[in-house]
Amino acid sequence: MKGRTRTAAFVAAVTGAVLSLALLTQARLAADARWGANYFPNVTLTTQDGDDVTFYDLIKGKIVAIDLIYTNCQYSCPLESARMARMQQLLGDRMGRDVFFISISIDPEHDTPAALKAYAKQYDAGPGWIFLTGKMTDIDVLSKKLGLWSDPAQTQDGHTPMLLIGNEATGQWTQTSALDNPAYTAKIISTWMNSWQTAKPGRSYLEAAPITNRDNGKYLFGNLCANCHTIGRGDKIGPDLSVAFDARERDWLARYTLQPDVLRIKNDPIAKALMAKFGEVRMPNLGLEQDEVRAILRYIDGEKSSPTPAPPAAAAAAAVPAAAATGTVPAVLDKAIAIQVALAHDSIDRLRDQTASLHQAALSAGPAAAAIDRATADLARQTTVAGARRAYGVLSDTLVAYLKDTHTLLPAGVRVAYCPMVRKSWLQMDGPLANPYYGSAMLGCGEFTTITD
Ligand code: HEC
Repeated sequence: MKGRTRTAAFVAAVTGAVLSLALLTQARLAADARWGANYFPNVTLTTQDGDDVTFYDLIKGKIVAIDLIYTNCQYSCPLESARMARMQQLLGDRMGRDVFFISISIDPEHDTPAALKAYAKQYDAGPGWIFLTGKMTDIDVLSKKLGLWSDPAQTQDGHTPMLLIGNEATGQWTQTSALDNPAYTAKIISTWMNSWQTAKPGRSYLEAAPITNRDNGKYLFGNLCANCHTIGRGDKIGPDLSVAFDARERDWLARYTLQPDVLRIKNDPIAKALMAKFGEVRMPNLGLEQDEVRAILRYIDGEKSSPTPAPPAAAAAAAVPAAAATGTVPAVLDKAIAIQVALAHDSIDRLRDQTASLHQAALSAGPAAAAIDRATADLARQTTVAGARRAYGVLSDTLVAYLKDTHTLLPAGVRVAYCPMVRKSWLQMDGPLANPYYGSAMLGCGEFTTITD
């Protein structure tokens, strides 16, 4: 116990304001002395390679970092995975030897081993980074035990952007936030976690294998930036960097890439404006070195000057049939989208007026819109944002059915998106994703889809 207390103090001192590291409570540790075999539900899960594994066997005797992901996620998962990709690099050859990363899908229905394998490849996951899928019920039980679960009904997405780090052999477990700097997290893994083992000399963070591809801008961009940024292909989770590179001072770009969090704290006006524009997702501090930033900026400059193919957005716009392009948005869709916008802003302030307008529009649309009208009536009765979101999900299903039944092409400027967490679609105007089911908690969560039969 004494050692544990001392370590807690040490960690608190080391991390200070920089790393929000929350030691699991003493009570929690005491209750299960160690998180041994009995602590972990003995569920069988499947790896990205299609192998069945029992969870406890996977972590036994190892230092592990565990997070929950799903491959369609556009919010915190790309950030977490980018961060883990970075940690993987920093940990060098300890990965797959005594340190393992485990990313567990919370959308197992969609995340087959093949889907996870493709996701792993995107992040250049090397040996020791395991992706798991399985039965939803097993995953729920497990993520609850790991303290990573959160109730999907409580406006969260069944998923906290948290990384659980532990050393099974010593029973030390700790959580870090998804926004923590990977360099610090890697340091915690390799020094603090290690200090609990019978000290093995020469295995400190500093002696970890040198980072490969250290000055390879292309590699770093692909691994750390490409999930959120394009160069000349439009905004993704973050802004199109070719636009930024035309608009901004080189020095600012370097400082921002190195420490976006610091610029935000310092109220840098550009960082502030970007924050306002890009909603919930923040550009993470990826723990880069100066020379790595230089290499990345050089790479982006090079890419920017080489001709890029037409952005997909332009191609898609050209493919919109002329009739649809000139047509107006049918009133039912228009009114429903007004409600989507309000819910995306966590508001039901005008719900009564909005549902009244939608009711009128549904009446004028005739019998085909009867289901829309019924769902609207239920929505009108809601008095909480959570209740409105549930009712809106039902309404949304009727809207999609209406489009299908009436063979209405999606009008120009209207898009259908899908939220894998609530498994519901929504309609919105073209632009960044604005998830009405989670609003500001996870505005960008989901993906644009098409209406299929
Ligand atoms: C998890 C997503 C994510 C990752 C990974 C990421 N960014 Fe960003 N980036 C953003 C977001 C979002 C913004 C907009 C600012 C904000 O809200 O934080 C941004 C803004 C920027 C800007 C400012 C753009 C402007 O318009 O001035 C630069 C430069 C930038 N990122 C570079 C990078 C580079 C280089 C990398 C890789 C080393 C990277 N980013 C990795 C999400 C990301």
